[in-house]
Amino acid sequence: MKGIILAGGSATRLYPLSKALSKQMMPVYDKPMIYYPLSTLMLAGIREVLIISTPRDLPMFRDLLGDGSRLGMTFQYVVQEEPNGLAQAFVLGADFLNGEPGCLILGDNLFYGQGFTAMLQHAKEQCKEKGACIFGYYVKDPRAYGVVEFDANCHVVSIEEKPENPKSQYAVPGLYFYDATVVDKAAKLKPSERGEYEITDLNKCYLEEGTLHVELFGRGFAWLDTGNCESLLEASNFVATIQNRQGFYVSCIEEIAWRNGWITTEHLHQLGLEHSNTAYGNYLIQLLH
Ligand code: TTP
Repeated sequence: MKGIILAGGSATRLYPLSKALSKQMMPVYDKPMIYYPLSTLMLAGIREVLIISTPRDLPMFRDLLGDGSRLGMTFQYVVQEEPNGLAQAFVLGADFLNGEPGCLILGDNLFYGQGFTAMLQHAKEQCKEKGACIFGYYVKDPRAYGVVEFDANCHVVSIEEKPENPKSQYAVPGLYFYDATVVDKAAKLKPSERGEYEITDLNKCYLEEGTLHVELFGRGFAWLDTGNCESLLEASNFVATIQNRQGFYVSCIEEIAWRNGWITTEHLHQLGLEHSNTAYGNYLIQLLH
């Protein structure tokens, strides 16, 4: 399976921070925001990743992440000229996916919790052949998200985008796994009333087909998005709290690449040495002990 990170958008809610800088490049505590969604794809075992961003910001992501070889991965880049909606990722990513299943993650979504890797592997398996797997997360106010409704047997009944009167408390996080038919389905979508190609409409295609799986994250799991100043600060504080308490880093991409066996121990050591005047570099070095 291949992965796509959607890191464009206009980030109007972060003005003036976002006036000249991509939201997904902003720090979440000690790392650029995009490290967090990238690490999720890596935990899912996805090694080939497409990064989509605006004409203004894409060169900066290229500078930051390069061709992926430092992590034993492959990165490609595509511009989204206008923020025309999340589902457009699959039209822009059609050549990259080349008929294979794809996982999309939004560049401002952070996931953290025990059992996450197993959930990702399970989601990947569920749509390898046919279907889609999305997630549900209980939130106090789901009105800003896609919302899933279940019947008594936990089967999805409906999915609605930003409903005024949500039929459940379960929001759909920005992490979606799809089979190889996703590009065809995305290409047939029509823009919504607000003029966007909606990911919820894409999910509805799978729902109508009877192949939409929804996995629920429990209340011990953290899903944060970082779209406004408040949530950006909360995400930074969350990462700082976990890291300072445990000593383990959250979403250290070099560590995950090494644990996945994508880079050698010597290579990890070298990456650490390159930044040995930082806590980050020293973390990589001390992992080897
Ligand atoms: P949003 O948070 O919905 O939009 P935004 O980032 O433009 O922010 P704002 O509401 O403050 O204007 O987007 C969710 C994620 O998806 C975010 O990482 C940006 C990205 N995105 C795109 O890359 N392309 C798009 O067409 C859209 C709608 C979003």
